[in-house]
This record gives sequence, C-alpha cells and structure tokens, in this order.
Amino acid sequence: METAPEKTQRNRQVIFLIVAFLLSEARSESGRFSVAEEMESGSFVANVVKTLGVGVGELLARRARVLSEDKKQHLQLNSETGDLLIKEKLDREELCGSTEPCVLPFQILLENPLHFFRAELQVEDINDHSPTFLDMETFLKIPEGTTLGTTFPLTIAQDMDVGKNGLQNYTISPNSYLFLRTRTHSDGRKYPELVLEKALDREEQPELSLTLMAMDGGSPARSGTAQVRITVVDINDNTPVFSQSQYEVQIPENSPFGSLVVTVSARDLDAGIYGDITYTLFQATAKVSQTFRVDPISGDIRLKRAVDFEEIQTYDLYIEAIDGGGLSTKCNVLVHVTDLNDNPPELTVSSFTSNIPENSSETVVAVFSIRDPDSGDNGRMTCSIQEDLPFVLKQQFENVYILVTEETLDRENKAEYNITITVTDFGSPRLKTEHNITVIISDINDNPPIFNQTAYTLYLRENNSPALHIGSVSASDRDTGTNAKVTYSLLPLEDENLPLFSYISINSDNGNLYALRSLDYEAIQTFRFTVRATDGGSPALSSKALIRVVVQDENDNSPFMLYPLENGTTPCNDLVPRSAEPGYLVTKVVAIDGDSGQNSWLSYQLLKATDSGLFTVWAHNGEVHTARPISDRDSIKQKLLVLVKDNGQPPLSTAATLNVILVDGFSEPYIHLSDAPKEQAQTDSLTIYLVISLASVSFLFLVSIILFISVRIWRKKRDTLNSGYFGPHGPSSGHLVDVNGTGTLPQRYQYEVCLTRDLGTSEFKFLKPAIPSVQAQGYGKNLEENPSFQTSFGIN
Ligand SMILES: *[C@@H]1O[C@H](CO)[C@@H](O)[C@H](O)[C@H]1NC(C)=O
Ligand SMILES: *[C@@H]1O[C@H](CO)[C@@H](O)[C@H](O)[C@H]1NC(C)=O
Ligand SMILES: *[C@@H]1O[C@H](CO)[C@@H](O)[C@H](O)[C@H]1NC(C)=O
Ligand SMILES: *[C@@H]1O[C@H](CO)[C@@H](O)[C@H](O)[C@H]1NC(C)=O
Ligand SMILES: *[C@@H]1O[C@H](CO)[C@@H](O)[C@H](O)[C@H]1NC(C)=O
Ligand SMILES: *[C@@H]1O[C@H](CO)[C@@H](O)[C@H](O)[C@H]1NC(C)=O
Repeated sequence: METAPEKTQRNRQVIFLIVAFLLSEARSESGRFSVAEEMESGSFVANVVKTLGVGVGELLARRARVLSEDKKQHLQLNSETGDLLIKEKLDREELCGSTEPCVLPFQILLENPLHFFRAELQVEDINDHSPTFLDMETFLKIPEGTTLGTTFPLTIAQDMDVGKNGLQNYTISPNSYLFLRTRTHSDGRKYPELVLEKALDREEQPELSLTLMAMDGGSPARSGTAQVRITVVDINDNTPVFSQSQYEVQIPENSPFGSLVVTVSARDLDAGIYGDITYTLFQATAKVSQTFRVDPISGDIRLKRAVDFEEIQTYDLYIEAIDGGGLSTKCNVLVHVTDLNDNPPELTVSSFTSNIPENSSETVVAVFSIRDPDSGDNGRMTCSIQEDLPFVLKQQFENVYILVTEETLDRENKAEYNITITVTDFGSPRLKTEHNITVIISDINDNPPIFNQTAYTLYLRENNSPALHIGSVSASDRDTGTNAKVTYSLLPLEDENLPLFSYISINSDNGNLYALRSLDYEAIQTFRFTVRATDGGSPALSSKALIRVVVQDENDNSPFMLYPLENGTTPCNDLVPRSAEPGYLVTKVVAIDGDSGQNSWLSYQLLKATDSGLFTVWAHNGEVHTARPISDRDSIKQKLLVLVKDNGQPPLSTAATLNVILVDGFSEPYIHLSDAPKEQAQTDSLTIYLVISLASVSFLFLVSIILFISVRIWRKKRDTLNSGYFGPHGPSSGHLVDVNGTGTLPQRYQYEVCLTRDLGTSEFKFLKPAIPSVQAQGYGKNLEENPSFQTSFGIN
C-alpha cells in the first residue's frame, strides 16, 4: 500500500520534470500555495491575479485555466476573480500517504501568449485520524516466576496522520506487575513494550486484563485502545500443604479391618498436575505398613488389620503428599489405640500344696499371681473365693496373692475343698477368670474309736457249746486309713479271780465275742468286763466299753429234796394223832431247785400212797394234810410217795417217800424225843458229823457276813469315787428262793432241817426263819459278786 502512492508520486515528479524541461524555452514563472486538507469544495486557496501579474479581465480573455499534473483536478480557477478554489475535498492521507510535505504541483495556463505558471499546492495535515490497533485484543502468556525486567513487545498501532498528528505514545492501564515502554523501530515506527516489574503469581492473580492505549500528538490528541489479556502460566512453585501438620486420633483397639482412622488432606495451590496430590506412607516401619493403608487419592488412612492396645499403644505415622511436579510435604499422624476390656485376667499359680494335714495352724495352700494386660479399670482386678470356706485370700504384693487356711481344718468334717478363685476386672463388661483348685485334707489320728453303744448286754444260755458266738461289739473311728483301723481287745477284770480269758475271747478284727467254754448259770449268772478298741494311728487312741454277760438259766437241775432228805440214810417219820381232824397238817415236803425263775417253780403231788384217800399234798407248797378223819382201820404206818416237779421245759422231777405213823397220843412221844437226844446221838454217828459240819458252816457263814459287810462298806466308798463300774444292784430273782408259797425255802433252812431230820418229833420248829430277811437280800448280792461263796454253795 505504501508503495503505490510513492510510485505515483515518483511518476508525477518525473512527468513534472520533463514538462518543466520542455517548457523551459517558454516563459514560465512559479508560485506555492498551501491549503489544509479536508477543506470543503470551493474553499478559497489563493488569488492568483497578483501572482500572475495580469489584470482580472485578462484572465478570462486569455482563457486561463488550471492544469493538473495528474488526471485529477484538485483546484479550479475563477477566471473572473482570479481566485483559486478547491475543486473537491483534499485528503492528505489519500494524496500523499505518509509523505510529508504533501505537495501537489499544478500549472496555470494562459493563452495569447501562451504562458505557463507553475505552482505547487501544499496540503497541510490535520489530525483527522486516531491511532488504531490492528488487533483489538492481544493474548499474552507469561509463566509465573519469569525474571523481572523481561520485555514483551505488543501489537503496534497506526495513525494515518503524520508528524505531530501521528502516533506519539502508548500507555497501559495501571497495574502493579507490568509497565509499558514506548519503543521506536529503526524505521521510526513506535511500538509498545511491556516490562515485568513485579513477579507474577498465578496463584495470586492468574489473569490480567490490561487496556493498551495509543495516543497521537494532535491537538486535541486522539487515541485508540486495544485489550491485552495476560494469562499467567502455572509453574510448580507450590508444595502441597497439609491442613494440619500433625493429626492426633484415637481409635479403639479391635476396630475392624478397613476402619477409617483419619483422613489427611493437603492442598497444592498449583493447578493441573502440579496441584494433583498423591498420599503415601513415608518411612513406614514394618509394623506401620502392616497396619495402615493410605488411599493415595483421598488421603483416607484405614486399618489393614486389627490393632491391639496390648501390643502397640501409639503409632507414629508420616504421610507424604506429592504433587505431580514432585514437590512433597510430610505430616505426622499419631494414632493412639484406646484400650478395650478385651483381655480377661490371667492367673498363674506359682506354688500349690494340694494336701494339707488337718489340725495344722495357718498353712499357705497356694501362691498365685494375677495379671490383666488391659489398662486402667480394664486392668484393675479383684480376687475372691467362695464364701463359707475356711480359707482366706491375702494380698502379698501387688497382684500376688496367697491362699491360706483361716482356721484349723477337720478332715472328719470335710475332707476335700473345691476352691474356685475368681479374678474379675473392673472393665465394662467385667471379665473374669476362674481357677479351680482342690485341697485335700490329710488325716491325722485325732479321733479315738467310738463304740456304737456305751455298754453292751449279751445274753447267753447256760450249758452253751464252747466257742459259741455270743455277740459283737463295734467301734468306728472317724479317721481314715490305718488311723481308722480298729482292733479290739479284752481288758482283764478288776476281780482277777475270775479267769476272764478262759471264758471269753474276742476277735480283734471284727469284735465278735465268743464264750470259750460252757457256762453254768448256777455257778455264775452274770459278769462284766471291758472291751477296748484301739485304732492303728501313732500314737494310737482307744476307748472302752463295758460288756455285761448275762447267763440265762436252763432247766438243768431237778428239784432237790430237803425234807425228806434225798437219798437220806434214815427215812423221815411223821406222827399223826388218830384224833386229827381232816385238813390236819401232817408235814411239809420241802424241796429246792438249783435253777431260777420258772425253772425253779416247784409243784408237789402225791404220786402214790398206802391209802390214797387219806392224805393230800398241796401242790404249791408241799404241805401234807389229812384228807379225812382217820379211822381205826387205817394202818399205823402209811407210806406216801410225793413227786416234786419244777416248771422248766421239759420239767424235771424228784420223788420222795414219806412215812407217816398214825399214833393215838401226841405229847408223849414228843416229850420223849426232846428228853433223850443223847441216847440218839450215841447211836447215830451221822448226826454228830452233821452237827460238827453245821457248826463249822455256821461259823464260816458268820465270818462271811462280817467280811461281806466290811467289803460292802469299803466298796461303796470306792464306788462313790469310781461310779458306774457295776450297775445298780437289786435283788436278783435268779438266785433267790421263793418263800411265799412256792414251797421252796431259802438255802439257809437246809442246815436246820438236816440237823433235825432224824429227830422225827420236831415237826413245827424248823419252819421258823432263822435269819432276818434283810440279810437274805444282802446274801443275794453276795452271790453275784463272790464266787467263793458260790463255791461253798456248790458243796451242798
Ligand atoms: C508518553 O506518555 C507518557 C505517559 O503518559 C509520558 O510520560 C511521556 O512523556 C509521553 N511521551 C511523549 C513523547 O509524549
Ligand atoms: C491337733 O488338735 C489337738 C486337739 O484339738 C491338739 O491337742 C493338737 O496339738 C493338735 N495338733 C496339731 C499338730 O496342731
Ligand atoms: C470337687 O470337684 C471334683 C471334681 O469336679 C468332684 O469330684 C468332687 O466331688 C468335688 N468335691 C466337693 C467337695 O465338691
Ligand atoms: C470350677 O468349679 C465350678 C464349680 O464346681 C465350675 O462351675 C467351673 O466350671 C469350674 N471351672 C473350671 C475352669 O474348671
Ligand atoms: C453296734 O454294733 C453291733 C455289732 O455290729 C450291732 O450288733 C449293734 O446292733 C450295734 N448297735 C447299735 C446301737 O447300732
Ligand atoms: C439219790 O439216789 C439216786 C438213785 O440212787 C441217785 O440217782 C441220785 O443222784 C442220788 N441223789 C443224791 C443227791 O445223792
């Protein structure tokens, strides 16, 4: 565009020079006019009359006219006035472009004579154009962090005007980062240049929109604007920043796999990949990397496995956040595992005595320690055993306890204790552990054998077979084992005269008692001895029981006739006066029976008589009475056979013969008999012998009575001290004869009867008791206790 006007201009100049050369022969003159561009058509430029030196009328006449050097006529000449006028609007920029000055050559031609007037029209510039930018918007990308002072040339603006009216200066809207410099190219064109004055920070100001203004120097000045849009290009100038430099979290132990622990988050101000953050574990220990997993994108830290407070209580993690540009930061995550009561207490028995002897003072049964790996209340424990046990727990040190006996133990009361030690912690829920121990109480020999009865009474029929089992004693011992093994033994009687060991033996193992030989009730009715039970302990303990053996009577003695004396050498004669009334007491048959009780109950009967109608025998007492009046026809000598029978099973009996002589008078023979004892004595040596023996027996009897009484007194004194060896005494029916009508007599009668048995006439006298009945009772006792006396009884 610039070349075209220049060419035409140059062409015009060339043409102008050629014309000027051709016309140089002719008369020519020159002039210069100037006019501002953009003047309206017809505007006055100059009056050429004077310049041409011709009169006004001459112009018209000489047909003055304006000749343009190019095709276009810019001026016209008013031939009448000589004014040179603008034919049409002149645009300097169109005519000359940027050439300055803009001169349009022209000629004024006059004819007659031909005359050329050469002139020039200079078109003056006016400021009729504003600077304009070719690009209304300029986009510029500047990386942040660009060095200060860096320049950025901008789009150029153009102003068609020239000179002062042309482009003069550029400005930019105020900002703190860049300023503008107006620079000039070598060809003189001015261009704007931005200079970085302050570092750009995309994170602070990612974009700038500036207005670039170009100004010319006209008056008034004109300006044009363009937009400069600057994008700050990101560089990775920001490291990621964690929202917290340290995270501290608590998680309960036993949290399940995958539980979220905490989410870390970091921010990177950079954009794009420079702002994309990836999280990783940093310098993780094996434990940490086994336990935690970090989501690289979200930053969630999750559990890879359950955590155990008892194993590790605090994890110290470092998390690294890396952006896409490789910048990284670390943060610290402290994970505190909180305790749950997930461990029951543990109990360790370090020493245990399962066997403790009874009756021992405070004994340590067990030493144990307790432990709970949990902490706080979850690890605080209490320890207990069942109540109502004779054991107590004592705390020895912290968490060390001993179990001791509280009192002396009695195995016989309880031989085995099952003790449950319960350890409970205080957590929630409370966990407990039980430990069972069994304590066995071992025996010591602290219990003597005890007989199941304090006294035994054994009954035995007389005439037993030897080695007869007569009964058993039994003693038990509350101890066990050999301490409870009971052996039995006999203790000798106090009265050593009785050869106990020849009577009785005991099986030492089972307490069976045996009668060694046949016993005779008539010889011994009862006796006592003591059995001792001894246990096998060391020292052995023993106890005693009293055994009373009662010999039971058997009907082994037939009644013994005292009157008439059995197997007497002389028969007994009884006299009965013929004048006797019926029921006259003739005599009394007297018999005794060595047995006792029913076996000694005697009954009498008349077995045979000379005249069976004359006498009767009273069954219960043996009295012989006349049954009817005696007549003269009855023979003087009557023979009666009387049978005495006892009440035993089977009954035994003895018969005796009575001779009854019926006499007419009564008193004479009686007096006669009482006056002549000497003649009788001389004739009957047996009578003398009897008297002597009776006297000696009576003496012995008296001595025995005295001895007995003194022994009684002495024993009574002793018994008050040693009460109970012998039971209460009373008349024993077994050895007392019945004097009240059974027909038997006390034994002491025997002597008197025998003394008089042959005298015949003393029929009433002997019925009188010779000894008071008080003594008879004492005599009964004596029989029981004094075997020597019984021996004397046996003589009879
Ligand atoms: C260009 O403009 C600036 C700021 O407006 C001014 O300081 C400077 O003098 C001007 N230059 C010219 C040549 O007018
Ligand atoms: C056992 O008990 C008895 C009586 O209760 C006592 O005499 C004895 O000394 C005790 N033995 C021990 C070893 O304590
Ligand atoms: C103790 O426990 C054992 C075994 O469980 C049992 O056989 C025994 O009878 C128990 N003893 C007591 C006194 O409870
Ligand atoms: C301990 O003994 C108690 C009562 O006999 C019983 O219930 C419990 O199961 C036992 N414990 C153990 C661990 O044997
Ligand atoms: C005592 O033991 C003996 C022998 O075993 C027995 O015969 C008797 O009946 C027992 N007595 C008691 C009161 O149990
Ligand atoms: C009496 O004699 C009879 C027959 O001779 C005889 O069996 C009996 O034993 C004798 N009695 C006494 C006590 O001697």
